[in-house]
Amino acid sequence: MNSFLRVLGQFAFVIILDVLVVGLIYYEAERSKVAQANARAEAAKPVTMFDPRTGLELNHRTRLIMGDGYPVVERECAQCHPTQIIRSYRANRAEWLDAIRWMQAEKGLKKFDSKTEETILTYLENYYGR
Ligand code: HEC
Repeated sequence: MNSFLRVLGQFAFVIILDVLVVGLIYYEAERSKVAQANARAEAAKPVTMFDPRTGLELNHRTRLIMGDGYPVVERECAQCHPTQIIRSYRANRAEWLDAIRWMQAEKGLKKFDSKTEETILTYLENYYGR
């Protein structure tokens, strides 16, 4: 009887140990799943970028500086060509006007009303001037 109880005790001990080990493995697996999901969410977040000169935010799609007049420039200047062409161009106000007139004469760019043109030129002069 005594030895039967001892075997039963050892048996119970092994079972409890197994349950603990399986529980621990499961817990670790869940924890690493959560950690991986968090890492993926972190990586998917678009990185906010800033213009080093003005400290203003860059639009995540056009990469243009989101300063005064930005929405007008996005609306009027981002349809025909990549905005890279604008970002890499450096011109004073008169030269920007020349570029616009050239696109209007040669490339099918529409004429702007004077308020819109003013807004665009001031934006370009301020943020992509030289
Ligand atoms: C109707 C289409 C159209 C729109 C809208 C447009 N562009 Fe252009 N733009 C062009 C074309 C076409 C070119 C020539 C592209 C090439 O050479 O690959 C060009 C070229 C340019 C260049 C390069 C000029 C050079 O001499 O190299 C700049 C800078 C530019 N565009 C700025 C702008 C800005 C700023 C606006 C908004 C006011 C704008 N574009 C809107 C069609 C357009």
